[in-house]
Amino acid sequence: MMNKLVCLLLAVFSFTSAAQPPRKAAIASAHFLATEAGHEILAKGGNAFDAAVAVSAVLSVVEPQSSGLGGGGFYLLHRASDGKQVMLDAREEAPQAAHRDMYLDTNGQVVRDWLLNGPKAAGIPGLPAGLVHLNRHYGRLSLAEDLAPAIRIAEQGFPAYPRYVEAIKRKIDVIRRYPASQKAFLINGRVPKVGDIIRRPDLAKTLKAIARKGRAGFYQGPVARKLVKASRKHGGIWTREDLKKYQVKERAPIITTYGGKTLVTAPPPSSGGIALATMLNILSAWDLKKMAKTDPAKRVHLTVEAMRRAYRDRSVYLGDPDFVDIPVKRLIHPYYADGLRASIRDDKAMPSNLLPGLKHAPQGNHTTHFSIIDKEGNLVSATLTVNTSLASGFVAAGTGVLFNNEMDDFSAKPGQPNAYGLIGGEANAIAPGKRPLSSMTPTFVMGPDDVAVLGTPGGSRIITMVLLGILDFYDGHGPASWVSLPRYHHQYLPDAIYLEPNALNTDIVKQLEQRGHRVVRMSHPWGFMNATWWDKHSGQTKAASDPRWTTGKGEVK
Ligand code: GLY
Repeated sequence: MMNKLVCLLLAVFSFTSAAQPPRKAAIASAHFLATEAGHEILAKGGNAFDAAVAVSAVLSVVEPQSSGLGGGGFYLLHRASDGKQVMLDAREEAPQAAHRDMYLDTNGQVVRDWLLNGPKAAGIPGLPAGLVHLNRHYGRLSLAEDLAPAIRIAEQGFPAYPRYVEAIKRKIDVIRRYPASQKAFLINGRVPKVGDIIRRPDLAKTLKAIARKGRAGFYQGPVARKLVKASRKHGGIWTREDLKKYQVKERAPIITTYGGKTLVTAPPPSSGGIALATMLNILSAWDLKKMAKTDPAKRVHLTVEAMRRAYRDRSVYLGDPDFVDIPVKRLIHPYYADGLRASIRDDKAMPSNLLPGLKHAPQGNHTTHFSIIDKEGNLVSATLTVNTSLASGFVAAGTGVLFNNEMDDFSAKPGQPNAYGLIGGEANAIAPGKRPLSSMTPTFVMGPDDVAVLGTPGGSRIITMVLLGILDFYDGHGPASWVSLPRYHHQYLPDAIYLEPNALNTDIVKQLEQRGHRVVRMSHPWGFMNATWWDKHSGQTKAASDPRWTTGKGEVK
């Protein structure tokens, strides 16, 4: 009798504790047309990985200020059928003719214009190879099917929207330097107005070439010839060989635990996963959820001190793992965090210049992130970029491809800050074939009860935004809260806490200043977090997109 009861209880327990598959797919992206395209592909029988190809390709058409075929990105994948977790590194890489001093003038000073504008600023793109790899190795539909929505939108057009128009206005001086950039982004020589229909026929042709020939459609043949010809005509250094040899790399994610859940996140050449693990390991000594109620200023202070230490390590140790030895095991080990935590005082900020590191060391919102959960439980967390808004401003004639300016993510002169105020050391110096250090942090948080898929654009602030979103998840809140949360940020140097408007109340700010922190109130918000969530008990899913930027037209579905 007793045995039967035990069996019954076990059966009930295992039934109630078995994960319920997602009842419906969830997608959150930066543009409603991209989210719709993802669902269109799922409805055709594709999986989350096919949807990720479709979403990325549509974003490359409708959100060129943030990502595109001329850029790169990271795809963090979880395949439900066998539990495989991997990050596709489709990051741009330095051309073979690149060298460490290529952005210094004869006086040894960095020439910002070379680093940020025109074809010399561009690394060899990774996104097209990423799309092909994702489709071929993980998808279910053909590449042509996955790319069809993007080709259709590039041909038929999409309505210009405020963020798009603003990006063109800010880059107008560079766009006017290049006829093909004017053709791509201006209408009869003028900046488009909100509501104008934007068509990208050259980009549609390039997408069709990829749909037909896979990676050879971009990295070899007529498109490659046009990219190289245009680059060299305007002072760039790409060669056909650079394009032909570009490869996507499959990398093992950084895996760490915090508060009973497993975090799966971006490994180098992203700095995000290591920094996230370091910060969470440092913070694991305190009950932050309780502290949010009892002493919110102390919670912010301790979180900032964790940020400061992780960003110091970023600047000293991190770069492309194929070129530099990174002490990953040490940096993400809890004992290492114990050491970092030992120098944190409750009552005083630690000036960054007291931490051994580099001398000297924000902004940037022009990257994109999307999160997908499909009904099989496949997960995609993808952060894609062309670097700064509208990147180099340079479009190669006849291709519609906007070149990235990712070379600025290298340390053009070790010790000097880049566009995000980040400094890097020798580990991130320029070398041929090397990939620049990134902050992109696509992440899964996987617990026994639920799964979070999140990430955001935002340059150097990506990592702290993802941290704050994760802490909010642990506080018991859902994705709508993670994405809308007011944000604060510290990146070691400059030694200051940056606040979004109304991020912290005046009492908390006063208490931080009393501890010795310099607090800088910014006039603009940052980030564009897109997150999805799956409750494993009910099978319910949710998608949320940052209300700072969403239009309400369906960025989430
Ligand atoms: N381009 C921004 C980043 O990769 O962090």
